[in-house]
Amino acid sequence: IGDTLSYTPALGWNSWNCWGLTVDDEKVRRSAAAFVQKGLADHGWSYINIDDGWEASARAADGRIVANDKFPDLTALSGWLHARGLKFGIYSSPGPLTCGGFLGSYGHEAQDAATYAGWGIDYLKYDWCSYDGIAGTDTALNTFQKPYRVMQTALRAQPRDILYSLCQYGMKDVWTWGASVDGQSWRTTEDIEDTWESLHRIGFGQYPLYPYAGPGHWNDPDMLTVGWVGWGATLRPSRLTPDEQYTQVSLWSLLSAPLLLGCDLGKLDGFTLGLLTNDEVLAIDQDALGRQAQRVVPDPGYQVWIKPLADGSTAVGVFNMEDTCRPVRLNWDSLGLGRYHILRDVWRQRDLGAVQKTLDATLMPHGVLLVRLY
Ligand code: GLA
Repeated sequence: IGDTLSYTPALGWNSWNCWGLTVDDEKVRRSAAAFVQKGLADHGWSYINIDDGWEASARAADGRIVANDKFPDLTALSGWLHARGLKFGIYSSPGPLTCGGFLGSYGHEAQDAATYAGWGIDYLKYDWCSYDGIAGTDTALNTFQKPYRVMQTALRAQPRDILYSLCQYGMKDVWTWGASVDGQSWRTTEDIEDTWESLHRIGFGQYPLYPYAGPGHWNDPDMLTVGWVGWGATLRPSRLTPDEQYTQVSLWSLLSAPLLLGCDLGKLDGFTLGLLTNDEVLAIDQDALGRQAQRVVPDPGYQVWIKPLADGSTAVGVFNMEDTCRPVRLNWDSLGLGRYHILRDVWRQRDLGAVQKTLDATLMPHGVLLVRLY
């Protein structure tokens, strides 16, 4: 399958950050309906992924995994999603239990992969969790790879393309071997939260990983924490400021990261919708060259990230790391970009005219300037 599956990073939604273990059929359908009705689907958003909490407490007599009563008929749900042009994702663990304490796939991998294919599943998030108990104190690389190889073999035996998303928190430098187990993406860190501190640590910490991303295999710094989130119990608007949300979507796009929304799509306001439907920004994430941006100015006060694009243009993100407004002066020659002629502000979808020697901008606290040079 290699690089023909997930040739560009996945665009979708995952139930975890808004619903946690309280996810159910109705909430998934409501999210999917919003994808279509609010127009996200028209901008390429397509995966609707159920995270942990769908599994019954026991397998069927023949060992088949079954859903709990919150999901009365996964085949019907799958058909309903596919009829709307969407794709359907599910979640499991290589261990006996998932992180939420539900049944994992350990010892049932081939059977589970066949069951998923039968349900019409298009995406599997495979979360390490209780495999810790199997691995024990054995820290050999092969011990970490083995469960992902077992499921790789099981998935690839199915007559269906199933995007394979490794959730293993970056252990054993998964970016160096995730593609060798046919992972289309791999989580590089622990779970993200909707705070600047978490966005800063996880997002801006991705800079050494640019060599490992490419068509069909992507670094995954976890979900976008925009919109209404809060793990089911206390849904609330993201604690990121609007500027921090622009920063997150800009950075994830420069990183060629999968864009997985974790928010309640029923509560999308105009701001969030605008944030997620700017085609010029999404085009940077989805660019066919599939390169991950490099950080070229690591100044702690501000950072510059550069991503080459398939048509020969270059995307540049300038990020204010400080919590006050600040001026920046970019010198294109010293950034190695002096050959370009035309500058475009991507968020505002506005040409800024001919490229001059320098560009002066004022950045909002934790804010971003995202431009494309032609
Ligand atoms: C882990 C993962 C999360 C989510 C939960 C589910 O914490 O990193 O993204 O899937 O498990 O229990």
